Amino acid sequence: MLPLLKTAVPGPESRRLAAALARVESRNITFLSEGFPVFWDRAEGAAVWDVDGNRFLDLTSGFGVAGLGYGEKTLVAAVADQAGKLLHGMGDVHPTALKAELCAELSRLTFEAWGAGPGKVILGCTGAEAVEAALKTAALATGKRGVLAFRNGYHGLGYGALTVTGSDFFRAPFAGQLADFAHFVPYPDAGTDPVTYAEALALHFGSFAHPIGAIGAIVVEPIQGRGGQNIPPAWFLPLLRRLADGAGAVLIFDEIFTGWYRTGRRFACDYDGVVPDLVCLGKALTGGFPLSACVGKAAVIDAWPKSTGEALHTSTYLGNPLGCRMALESLRLLEEPGLGETVARKGEVLLAALRELEAKEIGFARARGRGLMAGIDVIDQEGNPDPARAGAIVEGMLAEGVILLSDGPERNTLAFTPPFVLGEEELRWAVGRLNAWGESSSRSDSSQGG
Ligand SMILES: Cc1ncc(COP(=O)(O)O)c(C=O)c1O
Repeated sequence: MLPLLKTAVPGPESRRLAAALARVESRNITFLSEGFPVFWDRAEGAAVWDVDGNRFLDLTSGFGVAGLGYGEKTLVAAVADQAGKLLHGMGDVHPTALKAELCAELSRLTFEAWGAGPGKVILGCTGAEAVEAALKTAALATGKRGVLAFRNGYHGLGYGALTVTGSDFFRAPFAGQLADFAHFVPYPDAGTDPVTYAEALALHFGSFAHPIGAIGAIVVEPIQGRGGQNIPPAWFLPLLRRLADGAGAVLIFDEIFTGWYRTGRRFACDYDGVVPDLVCLGKALTGGFPLSACVGKAAVIDAWPKSTGEALHTSTYLGNPLGCRMALESLRLLEEPGLGETVARKGEVLLAALRELEAKEIGFARARGRGLMAGIDVIDQEGNPDPARAGAIVEGMLAEGVILLSDGPERNTLAFTPPFVLGEEELRWAVGRLNAWGESSSRSDSSQGG
C-alpha cells in the first residue's frame, strides 16, 4: 500500500493538535516544526493513517516495535480477548499463568535454543528496565562494579541505562548525576582490523586506572541501532566472549532492537554463534505493549537471593497479563517457519537499492544493512556528515507520505527498519524517492553553493 495523501503534510488537524500539545507537554518531548509531526490515527500492515486521512508508508516499524506490521488480526483478537478477562495482575505477588508461560517461552527461545539452557527471566516494562535488570544481575553475580560499554551505544535513558549509553548528547545534561562505573571503548567498523582493536583494548585496560579484572559486565548491541545502524566485523562478538570469560565478567547482549528476526535471524548474535550470559529483549517482543525482558543463564540469574516476601527488583506492572498475552501471541507469529528467510530476502532488496543509491554519488554514503535493519549516511560535497540535509530529507519524505528517521552520532544516518510485511516493490519505491531527493539537493548545491 503506497502513500495516499489527501492534504498537505502535516494536515490541518495535525497542525491544530500540535499547537494544542505544545501548550501542555514538556517542550523537550515532541519535535515540532513546519513539517513535523503528523498525529497517527490508525495503522494496518506497514501503512499508517493520520488524523487528516493521509496514508503513510512506515519505514521505522514505530521504533522497531511493529515487526509483524500493525493490526495483525490474531494479535488484535488476543488483545481483545485478554482485555475482557484481566487487564492487570499482581506481578511479583499473585501473578498470572500467562507470566509463567511467557517466561518458559523466553527460556525456550533463547538459552535452551542456544544449548545453554535453561534460562531464567526478569520481566520489565521498557527496554531501559531490561538493561538495568541485567546490570544489577551482573553486579550481584560478579561482585564487581565496572562495566565495559561502547561509544554510540544506546541502551535507554533511565539513569541506570543512561550510565552505559555511549552518547554525549543524552549524557551531558545529567553528567553530574551519572555514576562512573562504565568504561567506553569504540565500537568497531566493519573494516576494523581485529589485532589493532584487541591491542587498543589491551592498552585501555592495561593501565592502573582501568584494570580489566574490575569489569563485571560487558554490555553491547550486536548491531548498534540508534547509534547509526553499525554492523561490527564477525570477530567482534567472539572477542567480547573471550574478554568476558577472561575477566570473569557477565556478557550482556542488548537485542532490544535487533531481536526477533529484525536482522533475518531470531537474534543478531545468531550470525556469529556467540551465546551471551544475559540477553535484553523488548520492542517487537509484544508488537505494541510496553513489556521487556532480561533473560539469563539460570546460574547467573540465580545470583539474586530468593524472595523473602519483598522482591529486591520489581515494579507495579511487572508481568502485566495483557503484555504477556501479546508477547505470547507475537512470539507464536514470529516463530512461524520462514519469517527469517523472508526478512533476509527483503533485506537484500533494500540493501541493493541503497547501494545503487550510494553509487550515484549524489550525497549518500556507506549503505549497510542486515535483514530489515539498514542505514545510509547523508554527506555533503566534501564527504562530511550532513545532518541538516538528512533532517530535510526526513521531513521531505514525510511530506511525500514516507515515515523515516535519521539517527547516528551525527544525526546524518537515514535508518530503515520497516515492518516485515512491507512489500519489495514498496521498498524499492521508497528508496527511489530518496534518489529524487539526492538529485534535487545536488542540483541545488551546485546552483546555490550549498
Ligand atoms: C538497543 C536498545 N536498547 C535499549 C533501548 C531502550 O528501550 P526503551 O526505549 O523501551 O527504554 C532501545 C531503544 O531504542 C534500543 O534500541
